[in-house]
Amino acid sequence: MPEYAFIGRSNVGKSSLINMLTGVTDLAKTSGKPGKTQLINHFLINDNWYIVDLPGYGYAKVSKEKSALFEKFISDYLTTRTSLLCIFVLVDARLPLQQIDREFFEWCGKKEIPFVIVFTKIDKLKRQEIVKNIEDYETQLLRSWTEVPTYFLTSSEKKIGRDEILSFIEETNKIFKIV
Ligand code: GTP
Ligand code: MG
Repeated sequence: MPEYAFIGRSNVGKSSLINMLTGVTDLAKTSGKPGKTQLINHFLINDNWYIVDLPGYGYAKVSKEKSALFEKFISDYLTTRTSLLCIFVLVDARLPLQQIDREFFEWCGKKEIPFVIVFTKIDKLKRQEIVKNIEDYETQLLRSWTEVPTYFLTSSEKKIGRDEILSFIEETNKIFKIV
């Protein structure tokens, strides 16, 4: 079955987004403290596809010598899982492009893993701030990418972006069935 992994810096709102998308409060454990999710968690949706909650990157205490973005079991999962159709990379809509996210996008590019970007917590911004931040983010991305990846604006708090993400997944599932 096709699966979609949710990744991003610790505390960015991965688990909250999964709960919002599924409509099941407390399905994925959330926390105010970073580092809550420590395993690869699969949630089967409609007996048809999987949402995969991953531990946040940029939290694991990685020694100075190792510059790995995340632990090996996560990179092994992301690079070898044939049913993984797309990674949703979550970034906080309030922040400019962070170095660690830029590195992760580049890592996905190098490994040829499809990804989309999910801006989280937009309820914490005014409309004009959202527009400006996204514009700045696009400008940053276009310094190393020829086009801006597909992205979604979301708030788990206010349930924004749910239909858009679920439609995208539904469309992608159809392609998976054909192939
Ligand atoms: P780790 O598992 O530790 O990597 O974190 P995570 O990315 O799964 O984040 P989680 O969903 O646990 O949320 C982290 C914090 O952000 C919690 O306090 C959430 O309540 C808060 N949060 C998540 N999404 C939103 C949102 O859309 N709006 C607001 N205002 N807060 C949010
Ligand atoms: Mg989590």
